[in-house]
Amino acid sequence: MASHKSPASSAKQGLAPLEHMSKSDTILLRKRLVGESCKLFFRSDPLKIVRAEAQYMYDEQGRAYLDCINNVSHVGHCQPDVVAAASRQLAVLNTNNRFLHDNLVLCAQRITDLMPEPLSVCFFVNSGSEANDLALRLARTHTKHRDVITLDDAYHGHLSSLIEISPYKFKNIQNHKQADWVHVAPVPDVYRGKYRECDHPGEDMGALYAEDVRRLCEKSTAGGGGVACYIAESLQSCGGQIIPPPNYLREVFRHVREAGGVCICDEVQVGFGRVGSHWWAFQLQGDDIVPDIVTMGKPMGNGYPVAAVVTTRAVADSFRAAGVEYFNTYGGNPVSCAVANAVLQVIEDQNLLQHAKEVGDYLLARCRELQARHSLIGDVRGVGLFVGIELVTDRVTKQPATAEAQHVLSRMKDESILLSSDGPDRNILKLKPPMVFSKQNADTFMAVLDQVLEELDDGDLPDPVPEQPVSQTNGKTNGVNGHRRKSAAEA
Ligand SMILES: Cc1ncc(COP(=O)(O)O)c(C=O)c1O
Repeated sequence: MASHKSPASSAKQGLAPLEHMSKSDTILLRKRLVGESCKLFFRSDPLKIVRAEAQYMYDEQGRAYLDCINNVSHVGHCQPDVVAAASRQLAVLNTNNRFLHDNLVLCAQRITDLMPEPLSVCFFVNSGSEANDLALRLARTHTKHRDVITLDDAYHGHLSSLIEISPYKFKNIQNHKQADWVHVAPVPDVYRGKYRECDHPGEDMGALYAEDVRRLCEKSTAGGGGVACYIAESLQSCGGQIIPPPNYLREVFRHVREAGGVCICDEVQVGFGRVGSHWWAFQLQGDDIVPDIVTMGKPMGNGYPVAAVVTTRAVADSFRAAGVEYFNTYGGNPVSCAVANAVLQVIEDQNLLQHAKEVGDYLLARCRELQARHSLIGDVRGVGLFVGIELVTDRVTKQPATAEAQHVLSRMKDESILLSSDGPDRNILKLKPPMVFSKQNADTFMAVLDQVLEELDDGDLPDPVPEQPVSQTNGKTNGVNGHRRKSAAEA
């Protein structure tokens, strides 16, 4: 990010002091100092967010936006208990994990207690990318194999090792040559994927998709690399809010383990109770589904950088036996563990799993009502507070309604609701709000979406549609529901 220069420094550049900087100055400086490879939301009229609370974000004018996107601020933006835990610990001690500290062991204890046996060993890192990179190392060391099976449209992080296994990214790199150790399996998407439920009525879709993974295992073994691991999000978020069919992971795990590989579930986006009924999304596939390695991040620190890898004693022992010490300067420091412990405590104290289930069920039911009235909605899927609304121009051909989806995002922003889209065609509206998102928020969201879809039904799609959402803020609203500010108590 831009370095925080003194007011004198920004004055030198002909700009207002930082604390009074106009939005256009911020945009200018950002372009100059940070470059543009990190894309902003709403590029042609980006938001300048200056503070946030619970499920609301506020721009520099004090306008409140309902945040339907942020799965990092899991227990709510700036949750007071989490903020207090971080501040308290930061004022006392922050050092590395070469010293004993109770926060680290308590955090490891809490997380492993939430995992099925034999997942019992925790490694602390700083980001989802670090977690997945370490997971690959663990898998390769344990299996002594090289190859990785990943899903199409998957994203597992920004490190070089992870871009190689993230088709979501590498498919966009010019002249990228897929590494020979990477094998890409189809997304288990029963709506528009390789095998569609409508074409395979009554079939075991999980087994059908897993069969492709089995074939990749065979290919890997025949090619000499051998399967080190299968890695996938337990519910694929980046690829378009995909819920794998029942039996998928059971069959995949069987094939991968028969080939001598291990199974990694990436819970960086979907862990920590987002699915409502369980702490971890892989558990949706059955109590017998136990990965060898689980990675987690984003929600774990509610915005503070803390992440983890949980694995079995056997995998951890192989890693230790290989002789490479694992040291991570910031991983598992007393502050990040204090934060993670506070997040876990808030989830429990506020019964947020139950809340996610109730609000998620309500939201899904309301989305399905909308689907019955708007032909643009081809599919509604989700679990807990992880919901996807897939827009199509034709329900039979399933032609992705990409332009319409981008228009919806732009109009929702006009109405002070922050939403994003995903999937290879960017036609899936995705909701993964902070877990304190309420039924009242769901009602607000549905009412606005209904209105925007009605406008589209009336043929109100501007032509040409901008590639990125363009704000048409009319200046009449003063934030979501016309409120400048909402208190956490209303959450
Ligand atoms: C599924 C998944 N895994 C891993 C990562 C990488 O996490 P981080 O950005 O914390 O490195 C992301 C980030 O978006 C992600 O969505």
